[in-house]
Amino acid sequence: MLNWEAFNEPDEKITATSKQVKQEVPKQLATEAELTAETADQMRYEPTGSAAYEAAQKALEQLDVAPGLEELEMGAERVQVDQKRMINCRADLNQLVPFKYEWAWTKYLDGCANHWMPQEINMTQDIALWRSSDGLSADERMIVKRNLGFFSTADSLVANNLVLSIYRLVTNPECRQYLLRQAFEEAIHTHAYQYCIESLGMDEGEIFNMYREIPSVAKKAAWALKYTQAIGNPQFQTGTTENDQELLQNLIAFYCVLEGLFFYCGFSQILSMGRRNKMTGVAEQFQYILRDESMHVNFGVDVINQVKNENPHLWTEQFQAKMTQMILEGLALEIEYARDTMPRGVLGMNAQMMEEYLKFITNRRLTQIGLSEQFPGVDNPFPWMSEIMDLRKEKNFFETRVTEYQVGGALSWD
Ligand SMILES: [Fe+2]
Ligand SMILES: [Fe+2]
Repeated sequence: MLNWEAFNEPDEKITATSKQVKQEVPKQLATEAELTAETADQMRYEPTGSAAYEAAQKALEQLDVAPGLEELEMGAERVQVDQKRMINCRADLNQLVPFKYEWAWTKYLDGCANHWMPQEINMTQDIALWRSSDGLSADERMIVKRNLGFFSTADSLVANNLVLSIYRLVTNPECRQYLLRQAFEEAIHTHAYQYCIESLGMDEGEIFNMYREIPSVAKKAAWALKYTQAIGNPQFQTGTTENDQELLQNLIAFYCVLEGLFFYCGFSQILSMGRRNKMTGVAEQFQYILRDESMHVNFGVDVINQVKNENPHLWTEQFQAKMTQMILEGLALEIEYARDTMPRGVLGMNAQMMEEYLKFITNRRLTQIGLSEQFPGVDNPFPWMSEIMDLRKEKNFFETRVTEYQVGGALSWD
């Protein structure tokens, strides 16, 4: 087994091998002719070994290189920036640079700089509070359960949509690089919810099945799934106005509604709880998730606007009306969720205030993609939410993380 201790001890074996290697190094550099002869020698090398290895060699002789050559043909020329397009791009997608969309690369770097893991957050106080019989009111307990129920599957829906539908159809390597980062962040979010559910000793079956069993949760999940199914078929291809609009509709449904609206009632409820010093571990997990999510929404808005700019024929008045209605359907579902999770005032908020907040967010989502706002004059009743979104990692977060990351097992190669 190799481990870091091995670097600190003199190892006779390694020293002997190094000496041997030193003796074998030719005193003069080989000429090009010698190198060519040497390469030819190596190519004559006949492998001897297991029957399985010989079968592997034989299989390679039968390898059909045609599909690979097709790919290479696409990349026969160096990619020029102006060949790059968000959808329906014909240039080689394996060449990351030159960047056309610097913003996508910057967001990828920002996402990496904000990396965090659920186990870094202390859940001790939450566990004690959850177990105590009088620590939380029945309404507060329901808020925690409903939100873990919704989010624990919602992030899987987002991840599946990214990996199984959007990734294939967004034909830009710097955006795909961000999509890969986002997909991993969605996995971390699902992990964070699982971590909370496990730490609090909740009934996992009850929580993970809420998206099928509790109407206000199920409706949101079903609404989103409808848009995944449209483009998730492996036979689906972009390239026609109808199909390009279908993809654009999916991007708006997921980035502006699911991630941009459906998360906001739950986020503000849990964060309000954290501000009151209750379930602070869960609230901290949500805080980091919210920061990631606001970046996902910003990325999605940039992609949507780029698709619009490059394909203005998709953005017809009829399509704009359809998208406005789709976003408003999302708002109605989120208001229903707010009423269901807050039958009474709780945590300094109530369903009416939440409705106003959601209308405020809806206005913002509409205008971000160039649609008209639907609720003029609506104010943000929760200004503290914006502050939380801009959160920077606190110093003590880094300090705990540095020690916790020194896991010896991770450095062993056995
Ligand atoms: Fe997420
Ligand atoms: Fe997300």
